[in-house]
Amino acid sequence: MKKLYIETYGCQMNVADSEVVAAILSEEYTLTNTMQEADLLLINTCSVRDHAEQRVRARLRELAALKKGNASLLIGLLGCMAERVKEALLNEEEALDFIAGPDAYRTLPQLISRAQNRENPFNVLLSTQETYDDILPIRYDTNGVSAFISITRGCNNFCTYCVVPYTRGRERSRPPETILHEVEDLANNGYKELTLLGQNVNSYSWRNDKENMDFPDLIAAVASHVPHIRVRFATSHPKDISDKLLHTIARYPNICKHIHLPVQSGSDNMLNRMNRGYSREKYLQRVARIKELLPHCTLSTDIITGFCGETEKDHQDTLTLMETVGYASAFLFKYSVREGTLAAKKFTDDIPENVKARRFNEILTLQQQLSLNSNLKEVGKTVEVLVEGTSKRSNKQLFGRTSQNKVVVFDGGDRQPGDLVLVTIHRCTAATLIGK
Ligand code: SAH
Ligand code: SF4
Ligand code: F3S
Repeated sequence: MKKLYIETYGCQMNVADSEVVAAILSEEYTLTNTMQEADLLLINTCSVRDHAEQRVRARLRELAALKKGNASLLIGLLGCMAERVKEALLNEEEALDFIAGPDAYRTLPQLISRAQNRENPFNVLLSTQETYDDILPIRYDTNGVSAFISITRGCNNFCTYCVVPYTRGRERSRPPETILHEVEDLANNGYKELTLLGQNVNSYSWRNDKENMDFPDLIAAVASHVPHIRVRFATSHPKDISDKLLHTIARYPNICKHIHLPVQSGSDNMLNRMNRGYSREKYLQRVARIKELLPHCTLSTDIITGFCGETEKDHQDTLTLMETVGYASAFLFKYSVREGTLAAKKFTDDIPENVKARRFNEILTLQQQLSLNSNLKEVGKTVEVLVEGTSKRSNKQLFGRTSQNKVVVFDGGDRQPGDLVLVTIHRCTAATLIGK
């Protein structure tokens, strides 16, 4: 068998897609984690910010050198950057032999042979139906404890700053029976935590003569099917998070009490310009409802700072919203113009880099304080932790997560990955709970 090495950039959906790709190629290739012995090297890419693409460009220049020493090595580019830049990449990047967009992975075997013969080695067609539903992904880079399951692909929301609707195409939902089949397979293989993935899981929708399922129905079906396995989900769009979902999360002890609810900005002006479909007030009402129905639930978010036309007042609105919600953690980004998006066409990227950087530092400093406050509330408590592995700092210590998605490092004796253990928290940092 030939050897395949895959490098994955970008979001969790790309991680899940690389596992699908490994399965599609499994008849001809086995995976290796030594790049030097690979016959085929695949780079699964992200386009969400310019920085993500620049990293891949730099990587491709390094790989061009590797290829000089190994003439038979084939290199292919997958994912969102393949979809966005398309076949032009083949001229621009010396290292590349072929490219495949996110809906073209079933054609990889043909693309590989076309690359060997140098005949049109690209496929960037998007599909309205492809969900790779019948493919059981190969979890080649796994801790054996947690796994991702794709439940939707694509996005119809067209937030004005975002490239994803263009790189991933229209939103579509995967048939529930194929999701449950994958759940069962993971359970049989000893997995203890599953994350249901989609750009907006709340718009999951499956209808045919027999069934009519929305996201709360689906997650309830998964949670009741595997009551001893933790179930997580990402991402929840704030405009679509229903009371029905919150009641479902409350009903099942194995659905984790953590919601990633990206707000992007605390200012109505910005939310409007971003086409997010909710106001500050509406977002805060949903948060109040979460706190009422799920008192032990943590919230995390994504925030973009320095979007087109963002004033100091808009920025202050983001800071006050962060404080009101009290996020346990957040992913923070400086706005990066993406060619082809509505924001690139309609607005000017008018916030100078130094102002973006200052505002970024202000939200970062505040978030560190909020994360610390959130963690301090856990000190002295005993929490349930799913062990994922040994701590990076010391192999005598274990690490894992609570249902609330808090990272815990602890003295765990001979406990193993996959064990659920009770840990008493003695101290914390903004990022970690530390206990025994
Ligand atoms: N579907 C998810 C987000 C996917 S992209 C959602 O709607 O929440 C992940 C995050 O990247 C977004 O939440 C946003 O905060 C950030 N992002 C997207 N486009 C960006 C851009 N052009 N510049 C900076 N950050 C961006
Ligand atoms: Fe992008 Fe908005 Fe879709 Fe998220 S919901 S992927 S931010 S367009
Ligand atoms: Fe990046 Fe594509 Fe995911 S742009 S964030 S890899 S959907």
